[in-house]
Amino acid sequence: MSRQAASLWLLGVVIFDSVKKGPARLLDDGQYDFVIVGAGSAGSVLANRLTEIPHWDVLLVEAGGEPPDWSLVPAYWRFALPPEGGISWDYRSVPSPEACGGNGCSYRGGKCLGGSSSTNCMFYLRGSKQDYDQLARMGNKGWGYEDVLPYFIKSERNGDPRLGSTRYHGSDGPLNVEKFRYQDENTLAIFEGLGELGLQETDLNGEQITGAMITQMTSRNGERHSTYSAFLKPVRTRPNLHILINSHVSRILFRNESEAYGIELP
Ligand SMILES: *[C@@H]1O[C@H](CO)[C@@H](O)[C@H](O)[C@H]1NC(C)=O
Repeated sequence: MSRQAASLWLLGVVIFDSVKKGPARLLDDGQYDFVIVGAGSAGSVLANRLTEIPHWDVLLVEAGGEPPDWSLVPAYWRFALPPEGGISWDYRSVPSPEACGGNGCSYRGGKCLGGSSSTNCMFYLRGSKQDYDQLARMGNKGWGYEDVLPYFIKSERNGDPRLGSTRYHGSDGPLNVEKFRYQDENTLAIFEGLGELGLQETDLNGEQITGAMITQMTSRNGERHSTYSAFLKPVRTRPNLHILINSHVSRILFRNESEAYGIELP
């Protein structure tokens, strides 16, 4: 559980400062203050936050297109996964003798605005306190639990009054989180059974993550709330945000080993 919770899916995002200088290689000589490659879970948030500064021009480039309307329906997430669904990357992990018969595991990432947050099964599950503190101990300043917690709170709008009053949740951020709306009788029986085994009800997004919980979801009134819905859609009319869809970046152009200045599109 905690290993899974520790995974940070910041896939495919590169950000750099093109600083309006040097030869322009972007879009008919277009120059931007920032270019974000990938409008997924991280890229959508970055685009929102950077364009809060009105005089910063931001280009957001996404290989996929608009998320289809049906992706808002929670039960349809599985249909988004096969390549023929049209909105997924058909990734395969590096083969390891311990996993998936040594052949590499199939991993389908979202390929549309919102990225995998437009195709996942919408569980709202942060990493554990121990994992973030481990990241900080490895030398990543600013990644300890107490460092990242204010940002989780800032981004979240949790509709559950029991959680909203704890120190772990936010109630006025852009990303809507709610308790999974449908519980059938088996869910409740399993939940009670876990209690009898000593796994008490807990908030898996709090500090004590051993226990059981009815899932918290990134949804709003039962509808998927992806990072596209939460962070990108509401700011699409900002004049300093330029979104390029169906555009697969083939190369990042570097001036030297530490400074990128442009991207190449086929
Ligand atoms: C890379 O190029 C930039 C701009 O020309 C320069 O300011 C910077 O010092 C260079 N970095 C390295 C490591 O050479």
